[in-house]
Amino acid sequence: MKVSVKSPQDIENMRIAGRLAAEVLQMIAPHVKPGVTTAELDRICHEHIVQVQQSIPANVGYKGFPASICTSVNNVICHGIPSPGKVLKEGDILNIDVTVIKDGWHGDTSRMYLVGEASIAAKRLCHITYEAMWQGIMRVKHGVRLGDIGHAIQTFTEKQGFSIVREFCGHGIGQKFHEEPQVLHYGRPGTLDELKPGMTFTIEPMINAGKREIKDGPEKDGWSIVTRDHSLSAQWEHTVLVTEQGYEVLTLSAGSPAIPAFVAAHAQSRSAETTGA
Ligand code: MF3
Ligand code: CO
Ligand code: CO
Repeated sequence: MKVSVKSPQDIENMRIAGRLAAEVLQMIAPHVKPGVTTAELDRICHEHIVQVQQSIPANVGYKGFPASICTSVNNVICHGIPSPGKVLKEGDILNIDVTVIKDGWHGDTSRMYLVGEASIAAKRLCHITYEAMWQGIMRVKHGVRLGDIGHAIQTFTEKQGFSIVREFCGHGIGQKFHEEPQVLHYGRPGTLDELKPGMTFTIEPMINAGKREIKDGPEKDGWSIVTRDHSLSAQWEHTVLVTEQGYEVLTLSAGSPAIPAFVAAHAQSRSAETTGA
């Protein structure tokens, strides 16, 4: 297995790339409103990454992808291609997924946006998916196994009556966009690789309101993936670093959504464990 361990200097570079990616998601938030096209959102993000951040949008040309961000609306699970024909309307839910390369290092993050006022069901899906991502992140620590992370995300999500998409997963990240290990969002405790300080990877659960099955999007563009049952789908993504004591989230910015209260409670119970308090 060839999971790379990052040096302190590598980690410093990853922090910069991660923060830049998070700042793109923050910058674009006020532009997400009824009437805007996903192509326009892509244009604004591209300009910001290239002109303001003096960085490279990793998605452009990645395996032929034609844009700087993925824009996945409603029943689109992931990899939606921004389009001048896709006009956002009141009540839509949108995932924007962006990866920035700075000085050769990658930061990868995505979040959900509500377009105007969304339904209670749509808001609940976005909220639970955010919490599911944090259920995984908060368990990251030296010695924990990837199966523990996947299991935590899966049990939390299924308890809410939602389903986890199996065909896509998180991934190691660094000087490469996608590297080992694969980070599944389901699994069995105590299985798969053990986490080591200096590993960096993403956690990015895709969660469907209905069944977990997927199919190609109607555009037949080779990218967009939708729910087979047409139910809504949501996704959040952070890039995280494994540390001796736990984790560091590399893709936070000033305006990132509040971290769920259960994360602090979990950290406290964990430190009580190690200090014997
Ligand atoms: N950012 C996505 C991920 O989280 C990958 C997008 S690849 C692209 O791994 F080509 F669609 F941009
Ligand atoms: Co991503
Ligand atoms: Co990713």
